Amino acid sequence: MPYDFTTWDRNCQEEQATPIQGNTSGSLPPWLRGAYIINGPGRMTYGDSEFLHVFDGSAILQKYNIGETGVTYSSRFLKSYAFMTNSESEQIVVSEFGTKGCSAAKSKLAKLGDKFAFDKMFSDNAPVSLVRYGEDYYATTESPFVHKIDPSTLETISKVDLHKELSINSVCPHPVPQPDGTVFSIIHGVGAMGPKYDVVSFPAKPLEGKSTVFAKPQKIGSVDARWKFNPCHMHTFGVTPNYVVLLEQPLTIDVKAMVANTIREKPFIGGMEWMENKLVKIHLIERSTGKEVKTKVKCEPFFYLHIINTYEMNDQVVIDICGYDKPNLLHALFIEKIRMKGPSLADEIEGGYVKRIIVPLNVMKESSPDTNLVTLPGSKATALRQKDGVVLLKPETICNTVYENPTINPSKSGQPYRYYWGAEGAFKENCGKVGKVDMESGNVMTWQEENFFSAEAHFVPRPGAVAEDDGVVLVPGLFGGARRNETMLVILNAADMTEIYRSTFSLPSDASRALHGIFIPA
Ligand SMILES: [Fe+2]
Repeated sequence: MPYDFTTWDRNCQEEQATPIQGNTSGSLPPWLRGAYIINGPGRMTYGDSEFLHVFDGSAILQKYNIGETGVTYSSRFLKSYAFMTNSESEQIVVSEFGTKGCSAAKSKLAKLGDKFAFDKMFSDNAPVSLVRYGEDYYATTESPFVHKIDPSTLETISKVDLHKELSINSVCPHPVPQPDGTVFSIIHGVGAMGPKYDVVSFPAKPLEGKSTVFAKPQKIGSVDARWKFNPCHMHTFGVTPNYVVLLEQPLTIDVKAMVANTIREKPFIGGMEWMENKLVKIHLIERSTGKEVKTKVKCEPFFYLHIINTYEMNDQVVIDICGYDKPNLLHALFIEKIRMKGPSLADEIEGGYVKRIIVPLNVMKESSPDTNLVTLPGSKATALRQKDGVVLLKPETICNTVYENPTINPSKSGQPYRYYWGAEGAFKENCGKVGKVDMESGNVMTWQEENFFSAEAHFVPRPGAVAEDDGVVLVPGLFGGARRNETMLVILNAADMTEIYRSTFSLPSDASRALHGIFIPA
């Protein structure tokens, strides 16, 4: 059965604020209680105007609450400035990733100066993920706006403008929480040498005299962008016990085009540039000193959004990624293309893969260009020191099919690990599978149901578990074809991928594709 791209062409017009019961089968593990909240684009139209790209939809928060009597579902739109302005104007006013909005200055809500205010020029719609900072939960995106939400009601409480607080232009939507409650992130700013990436740590509690954890992040280190007018798109990064790992991929943001697009009120995607045949530059920043490891390290080209995990072993840093040859995926998901091309759209999207990159830490000047510096047993990855001193990496392919939105046992973050779980990303197939990937063997164990398309799966360890895969995988998702207004949560045994529980819900409007989520234990 071909991939059903209509599952991306959904338009949720009505939230489900009151929790509803579903049709269930199976039984919940007695230890599993909490809320799985997912975030993603939801509402696609305002009046007669419609967003052009899937990722432009106004964020909707969807919650599967796992309680004593079963699972309930509820949803609320994120009440961003963009959402409120578009709603009250009954048209798309604020430009998004792939859609030009009509000028805020022309809208009936316009105030003097709005057109040139950063927080009015750039959308604060945040449909990418949910992150815990301090004691609170926030909806995030790539722009410097995060929204505090109430996880019990899904109400939007307040907005934090990180551009105003920290003078930054964009922020990583996937910060990396640490065991002590601090949260590492990458913020993009401009230094004396042009664009730069600052690695920062937000504290677990507001510092003395400060009201929020965002007030004064600790700076861990900084890296200048390799191209002065083209900082790289950096959706995720890695943190190991001793290093922060940044991958500068060939997908860049053309600053000049971006400024021109902003003035002309054109969408963001027009400012993204793929630097054909350019290598991926890898930066390792030492956490204790903030200094970058001096050896220049580059890897053969790939496009990526998600790093699965990074860890250190035997004086080497291992970087596992969900990779692609090119970023065609971003350009394929325009609503018009989906409607015109149907299943044949799959021909335009590169198949992904799971790759392992290994960076040697102690590189001797005497190393011959013929000597593979990767010494991990059984690895097929290579690292060759070139005559100019650059270490050139070739990854090992672990799996020829990508499983996206990776989730691992949280105790293994930054540590050696064996398994990850994700949703299959091969658009030429049905693509509804959830896979458990064995990173040692490359073998994949899958679960799937005809016509069901999973959003981000999430691994929850069983309390007291010893084995890495002892727990469950939460799989939210939606259905293709005519079942547009149904959503389902499936709970799988993480070890053998067998189904142990499901609950299906009928919604008042289209079920929406979610991108990422967070599990909050009860
Ligand atoms: Fe992501």
